[in-house]
Amino acid sequence: MSIERVGVVGAGTMGNGIAHVFARSGFGVILCDVEQRFLDRGMETMGKNLDREVAKNKISAADKAAALGRIEPVTDRAKLEACDFVIEAATEKFEIKAQVFRDLDKACRPEVILASNTSSISITKLGALTKRADKVIGMHFFNPVPVMKLVEVIRGLATTDESFHTVRDLAVKLEKTPVEVNDAPGFVSNRVLMPLLNEAMFAVMEGVATPEAVDEVFKLGMAHPMGPLTLADFIGLDVCLDIMRVLLDGLGDPKYRPCPLLIKMVDAGWLGRKSGRGFYKY
Ligand code: 3HC
Repeated sequence: MSIERVGVVGAGTMGNGIAHVFARSGFGVILCDVEQRFLDRGMETMGKNLDREVAKNKISAADKAAALGRIEPVTDRAKLEACDFVIEAATEKFEIKAQVFRDLDKACRPEVILASNTSSISITKLGALTKRADKVIGMHFFNPVPVMKLVEVIRGLATTDESFHTVRDLAVKLEKTPVEVNDAPGFVSNRVLMPLLNEAMFAVMEGVATPEAVDEVFKLGMAHPMGPLTLADFIGLDVCLDIMRVLLDGLGDPKYRPCPLLIKMVDAGWLGRKSGRGFYKY
């Protein structure tokens, strides 16, 4: 089956980035979120991010208009029935994603692959909620999606080679580099990245160094484009906490214990860049 129209569930940071790259590569996109205002915000963000690409002469103004014109924002999940492939990028909470997968399984044709952009939740578990576990797969993009080259392609226990090859080829069509990973909490990216960010938070909490100093160490000593605390603010501290909890829960090793300072900051509503305050003020 050729994939021409894709569904993207969730118009937040990751969802609008994913819709952006599919539309830029010529796919029709049905972008679905629960409220019109989330769709409006997602469309506005895509417009701004496409403008950056126009300003850098990566695409023309006409390409931008054509990409936006390929995106149909909808609030009715049943409209995803028209899609040849669907990727879910909803909030990183199991219950929310579980409901999306149950709905998608009902709405979409049986041959349609259902992917999740989850950063840590079990693909096997999401697949088991559907009647098509062989067609459920992880397609994990990185923020900012229009810029980052990697797509982690995660096979659940039941995912077939055919589904894997389809999603791998799809990533290549988006000019991304797919990397194959098996299903395990946090996959590779977040299993390794999040404990680094969490440990940087412990260093701050224990007064070893300021956030600025920790970030300088990683920028200048390890050539990271952003230090770990800037990156945590960029990802969202609530997302970091959710992922640490999935790692602790799924792997059962206390080394994945979320830093108490992280918990406290999330309780305070200091979620990083998106809320105006995290380890830094924005
Ligand atoms: N859309 C389109 N283009 C964008 C963009 C966006 N949202 N954000 C940045 N860009 C473009 C810029 O236009 C610029 O283009 P150019 O190279 O042609 O000039 C380029 O990206 C670099 O941007 P800037 O010059 O504005 O800024 P920087 O050089 O500081 O780079 C950055 C910004 C790309 C975000 C860089 O700091 C970086 O790579 N940071 C690390 C990001 C990272 O680690 N992401 C992964 C997070 S983990 C994750 O997503 C997984 C999840 O599960 C938690």
